[in-house]
Amino acid sequence: MTETILIASDHAGFALKEKLEQALGTLGFDVQDLGTNSADSTDYADYAHPLAQKVSDGEAKRGILLCGTGLGMSYTANRYPHVRAAVAWNPEVAKLAREHNDANVLVLPARFVSDAEGVEILKTWLDTPFEGGRHARRVEKIERDEQP
Ligand code: RB5
Repeated sequence: MTETILIASDHAGFALKEKLEQALGTLGFDVQDLGTNSADSTDYADYAHPLAQKVSDGEAKRGILLCGTGLGMSYTANRYPHVRAAVAWNPEVAKLAREHNDANVLVLPARFVSDAEGVEILKTWLDTPFEGGRHARRVEKIERDEQP
């Protein structure tokens, strides 16, 4: 079955979001775009909350968020259980975010990466498996409900 990937941005990430959607389509994914739909000024949390809720609930396995720095989107998304939203500014960080941190939400700092860099970061994040092992133990410790 074709995987549906969620994507959302604020105004600062809108242009790169459109590029990444094209790339995801070319790669054969279904894309569910949760907005924004223009470069008009918006508030990043209004877009991060719905996406993070769906990933947290297991409605989607993976999602992508974009804002100017990536910070507002990651702060918001990481408030949800089971969401691991990683800001990645180059492919190496995206690779490690998958291998070590099992990042299920990729967050892009749209004002600090080119379109081509954004697509490379996306492809790396999509293609890199979680290493498990010692990293699985560490990732399991993130969820506060599981702490003693
Ligand atoms: C919008 O100007 C900017 O603050 C936002 O895109 C993001 O960078 C916030 O973290």
